[in-house]
Amino acid sequence: MKNFTVSSSFSKIFIFLFPLIVAASAATSQDFIECFVSHVSNSTSTHEPIFYTPNDSLYSSVLDSSIRNRRFSSPSTPKPSVIVTPSHVCHVQATVYCSKKHGMQIRIRSGGHDTEGLSYVSYFKIPGFVVIDLRNLNSVSVDVESKSAWVQAGATLGELYYRIAEKSGNLGFPAGDCHTVGVGGQIGGGGYGYLSRKYGLSADNILDAELVDAEGRILYRKSMGEDLFWAIRGGGPASFGIVVAWKIRLAPVPSTVAVFDVWRSMEHDATKKLVHRWQRRADKVDEDLTTYMTFQTSESSNIDQKIEGKNSMKIVVQANVRGTFHGSVDKLLELMQKEFPELGLQRQECSEMRWVESFLFFNQYRNGESLDVLLNRTSIFDSSPRKGKSDFVKEPIADDVFEIMLERLYEEDARRAAIAVFPYGGKMNEISESAIPFPHRAGNRYMIYYSVIWEEEEEEEKHLSWVRRLYNDMTPYVSENPRATYFNFKDLDIGMNNLNESGTTSITQANIWGTKYFKNNFYRLIQVKTRVDPTNFFINEQSIPPLLNYAFRR
Ligand SMILES: Cc1cc2nc3c(=O)[nH]c(=O)nc-3n(C[C@H](O)[C@H](O)[C@H](O)COP(=O)(O)OP(=O)(O)OC[C@H]3O[C@@H](n4cnc5c(N)ncnc54)[C@H](O)[C@@H]3O)c2cc1C
Ligand SMILES: *[C@@H]1O[C@H](CO)[C@@H](O)[C@H](O)[C@H]1NC(C)=O
Ligand SMILES: *[C@@H]1O[C@H](CO)[C@@H](O)[C@H](O)[C@H]1NC(C)=O
Ligand SMILES: *[C@@H]1O[C@H](CO)[C@@H](O)[C@H](O)[C@H]1NC(C)=O
Ligand SMILES: *[C@@H]1O[C@H](CO)[C@@H](O)[C@H](O)[C@H]1NC(C)=O
Repeated sequence: MKNFTVSSSFSKIFIFLFPLIVAASAATSQDFIECFVSHVSNSTSTHEPIFYTPNDSLYSSVLDSSIRNRRFSSPSTPKPSVIVTPSHVCHVQATVYCSKKHGMQIRIRSGGHDTEGLSYVSYFKIPGFVVIDLRNLNSVSVDVESKSAWVQAGATLGELYYRIAEKSGNLGFPAGDCHTVGVGGQIGGGGYGYLSRKYGLSADNILDAELVDAEGRILYRKSMGEDLFWAIRGGGPASFGIVVAWKIRLAPVPSTVAVFDVWRSMEHDATKKLVHRWQRRADKVDEDLTTYMTFQTSESSNIDQKIEGKNSMKIVVQANVRGTFHGSVDKLLELMQKEFPELGLQRQECSEMRWVESFLFFNQYRNGESLDVLLNRTSIFDSSPRKGKSDFVKEPIADDVFEIMLERLYEEDARRAAIAVFPYGGKMNEISESAIPFPHRAGNRYMIYYSVIWEEEEEEEKHLSWVRRLYNDMTPYVSENPRATYFNFKDLDIGMNNLNESGTTSITQANIWGTKYFKNNFYRLIQVKTRVDPTNFFINEQSIPPLLNYAFRR
């Protein structure tokens, strides 16, 4: 039983069952809370558990506080019957115990940035679910000596960077630049950022973890075993348990880094040549240099056109180029002149600052704000409804095809759309595809993220169809077999677990999205899931399915 090997060909054969939660049991949040209180009062913790039910005046503000996408906070969005905000690990254990006892599902939320809202929404037609929001478990303890830190899952990246900088100006951590993103979700799904070409993903730099499993036990690397420890580093821990904290390996950073954030019009030939070169070089350049490009439309700020008057204001696609270099502005300019001369980067467009300050810079705090803004969990970015999709690119896209792709941004339904590209290479190429569940390594030049934003709910359909059409039309130019997708940019369009009336779904379905995110690592994730959570307690629309035991008794 234990040593079976799973191959992709088995997929058609088996059907797996979800535990059907019987509606008749109609667990109320009151049952859950009573269980919880009695469970916690048996522990030695003096921390008061905090709950919010729809009757509480704070319920909505707590629920909405970390929702970054208003698409998932409309009146029709399914809402939890209780939100728990633990301040002690025993509250996490009690949540597992009492949710199980009362047949309620759990949604786990750290920073709330899930691109499909899966940390606080459940589309399964099952009464009552619990959101466990880890915001209060956000402590960070940095050990400069061993270049490591324990960070609780509810901390944001901003809190993590701030606490590291408090202790050392020469240590950092490879993760994203948006400071309100949660450590729980981002590390659990990979975690790509400006340091990834040099040090890999966040998930490549995890030394240990504290996890509460489906039995409510507290496990560490040693007690959970290497298989489960492997799975939660990029495979989405929400399928396996609740991560309470990560022990991370800190990365050396220089005392100052050089950064820039500039705009160039795609109407200029030089910018087109820049794109041509970026596609071929961005993954090959010095690992100390990482450049992102984002394309979106804006009104031309061309002076000649302004003089001619309003009517001649023109919408043009602009390329936003951002970069970080681990060195001086002088060295950066030299390197940029050699690698990307078409950008024509100017000295006055660059700044030198501490590594931690670069996160203020990239989050648009550029007026001498104090580092304290990194501790502010409220995003300054708007949370308008949005949808994104990701792709991996293995061979440069032909210039004319790339241009046609960008022309899509002129379409009416794409007024607030963007296409962003993120370079791979460097350390990303050196790590094997199976080292952790994240498989997109050597052979990938860059990742594309297509996204669209809208305002009114009734506009949703046309914007969704814009991004889906674009994604569809890009099929021939991106990775194939499978067409790979980044798990942290979760996309329910590629398929999901479906709890139908009989409570069953086919593994063939899960196979489709599972291999897009994880390639062959998907089958190992199924093995781990089957071992640690055979009854599928930790379930969501794109969680890893377990195989029923009977499936192997042939
Ligand atoms: C504005 C923005 C910028 C982004 N930038 C980047 C970037 O630069 N690089 C990058 O790699 N990604 C980026 N992402 C994607 C981001 O990493 C993922 O959305 C990530 O999952 C968010 O983590 P979270 O804790 O904020 O989200 P949440 O919504 O809280 O969680 C996301 C998922 O993880 C699960 N989860 C959360 N906490 C736990 C836990 N403690 N234990 C078990 N499961 C848990 C949730 O249930 C959910 O399924 C960005 C997203 C946004 C919206
Ligand atoms: C709490 O402890 C009491 C007495 O030891 C025990 O009877 C009860 O079952 C415990 N409750 C829970 C939820 O563990
Ligand atoms: C919420 O209020 C309603 C109406 O007052 C009441 O019937 C219900 O029991 C309350 N629910 C909880 C969980 O307190
Ligand atoms: C946090 O940021 C938000 C958004 O910019 C702002 O409105 C709020 O005042 C800030 N809070 C604190 C305590 O600075
Ligand atoms: C539910 O899904 C399973 C597996 O795909 C299928 O065999 C079954 O017929 C479906 N039941 C209903 C009621 O749709």
